[in-house]
Amino acid sequence: MNFDLSEEQLAVQAAARDFAQTELLPGVIERDAEQRFPAEQIKKMGALGFMGMMVDPKYNGGGMDTISYVLAMEEISKIDASASVCMSVNNSLVCWGLETFGTEAQKEKYLKRLTTGEAIGAFCLSEPEAGSDATSQRTTAEDKGDHYVLNGTKNWITNGKSASVYIVIAQTDAAKRHKGINALIVERGMDGFVVGKKEDKMGIRGSDTHSLMFSDVKVPKENRIGEDGFGFTFAMTTLNGGRIGIASQALGIASGAYELAVRYAKERKAFGKHLAEHQAIQFKLADMATKIDSARLLIWKAAVLKDQKRNFVKAAAMAKLYASQIAQEVTTEAVQIHGGYGYVKEFHVERLMRDAKITQIYEGTTEIQKMVISRELLR
Ligand code: CAA
Repeated sequence: MNFDLSEEQLAVQAAARDFAQTELLPGVIERDAEQRFPAEQIKKMGALGFMGMMVDPKYNGGGMDTISYVLAMEEISKIDASASVCMSVNNSLVCWGLETFGTEAQKEKYLKRLTTGEAIGAFCLSEPEAGSDATSQRTTAEDKGDHYVLNGTKNWITNGKSASVYIVIAQTDAAKRHKGINALIVERGMDGFVVGKKEDKMGIRGSDTHSLMFSDVKVPKENRIGEDGFGFTFAMTTLNGGRIGIASQALGIASGAYELAVRYAKERKAFGKHLAEHQAIQFKLADMATKIDSARLLIWKAAVLKDQKRNFVKAAAMAKLYASQIAQEVTTEAVQIHGGYGYVKEFHVERLMRDAKITQIYEGTTEIQKMVISRELLR
């Protein structure tokens, strides 16, 4: 076992850190306040190769391993979790799903643009009445021979407005339950497809989260991913990898808050000495660092198992469960160390504390991760 990163992985990490500092940090507070999507920054991330990191270079991807991806996700998330959720969905859910299960024609038409940032992808599973209970899909894709007719509503869709390629999960044959579900590629601009209301969120406020409405949208059969009835397995399999991305986002939020807390503790004086010289603060920092390192090890283990093409379902769920939990704890302590300054926007930690919460909700809540882990343990 070797925990040393390769030269290439270190270079990716350094490039992501540099990009986050120079391109994402300026304006991150304003984008959060104004709920403004980082459109320019995402374009640049595409040009730098951050939007299709693990995809084969023949589809304009970076051809990198999952460790490189989680390193980049951590660095971007330290500064701007709204940018990193866009990156995570595009890389883990949309690009990975298309590359693994899509046809050659789908890869040519969609994947090649998604890897460069020319197009942004969205993954549309959740519905008003199907969040954790994802098999209860109400959106229908009626089989009409050479095309499907799509009807229904999707909720809380990341990249809802900025995307142009949407993978939509819908029920074709309700009698078959989850085996009657399909995954369809829907393009922005198809007749009957409307982007609905934008959610006013607690955190990741720069990310554009929307509801989507489909009313008799004609989707050609060649836009179906996999065989008829493969849609639910597609969604579940894709989400297994997605959870590594979101775990890395949670880790980045935690480590970003921790770094700010260390810096502040070394600068700020109370009772005649720096905060960092008080044991009360030292012990907090020790706990925070231990939790961050533990989360990082779980994430790296899941990433390595995935790259080795071994079963990583339990490892990914454990990584997401733990990293999202410690993101709450670490960001809360970072605010505490900052005292009154931690409660105001200019010191960043209050945003990180708000951003942390969603990592326990999307791509499978904490409770769903425990279901996934216990099922894997008891199988
Ligand atoms: N990997 C692969 N396949 C899986 C799987 C997994 N982790 N979990 C379940 N499946 C398969 C099962 O094997 C089964 O298929 P077969 O019948 O062919 O064997 C099928 O899926 C149905 O599984 P269950 O019988 O276990 O179904 P269930 O209803 O009891 O539980 C669930 C399913 C695991 C709870 C699932 O509904 C789930 O994961 N829910 C959470 C949904 C979720 O993560 N949503 C996130 C939305 S996307 C998002 O958030 C993106 C974003 O914007 C950031």
